[in-house]
Amino acid sequence: MEKLLINNLSLAFERHGKGIPLLLIHGFPLDHASWNPLLPQITSLFDVILPDLPGFGSSDIPDEIHTIAEMAADLAVLLDELNIQKTCLAGHSMGGYVALAFAHAYPARVLGLGLIGSQAASDTAERKAGRYSQAGQVALRGPEEVVGMAEKLSADPVFEPFFREIILRQRSAGLVNAIKAMAERPDAFGYLERFSFPVTLLHGQADSLVPVERSREMKKRIPAVELVELPGVGHSPAVEAPLETARILLNLSGR
Ligand code: MLT
Repeated sequence: MEKLLINNLSLAFERHGKGIPLLLIHGFPLDHASWNPLLPQITSLFDVILPDLPGFGSSDIPDEIHTIAEMAADLAVLLDELNIQKTCLAGHSMGGYVALAFAHAYPARVLGLGLIGSQAASDTAERKAGRYSQAGQVALRGPEEVVGMAEKLSADPVFEPFFREIILRQRSAGLVNAIKAMAERPDAFGYLERFSFPVTLLHGQADSLVPVERSREMKKRIPAVELVELPGVGHSPAVEAPLETARILLNLSGR
């Protein structure tokens, strides 16, 4: 992987293909490799940038809580370093929270936004409390504490080993930071209302981590967004339905 020093943290990323820039932001508790099954469908059309968010994969772990907005700011600097002014952008679940924060902070840099198995809603008080108790357990037990998510990351058990392998190489402190960052993220419905570029929500109807109702809620409140639901697909359309996911990304780019 390539690495660049961004806001005092070494940020790792891969870059594949040629064409319109496309920044793909992974979910929790994963890293850039969770996009690998999608790559063959998109590298002939896009210049794909796959970062490991701070605290994940081969990127440095921040010392203190590093918010979702700060992660978005890091990605803006990464794009600066790569001389990319405007990009298509898509985020998977937690990556969608970062993508929303990026699009809110830098709307002029976004050609189109895809939110995959994600949501604009912030956490309820109960969910937030659950996150902090999970953070405590992860600090003690490490990625083993969340490896059970491998089963829920897709609707098809065939993908479980793929996700297990990625989860087990994550580091406790990075996971703890991200759990707290997710707990503290703001409601982003107001952001969505103001976006003037195309926004597509892609959601598996069999998603057991972030239910499809979360995307339906966004569509209901902001009818200008496009919602594509995938029957039988779970939390990870890019892995479970790469062709459909590539089609959505292509539409976002206006091609
Ligand atoms: C994810 O898949 O990124 C997380 O499950 C999202 C979340 O916990 O809100």
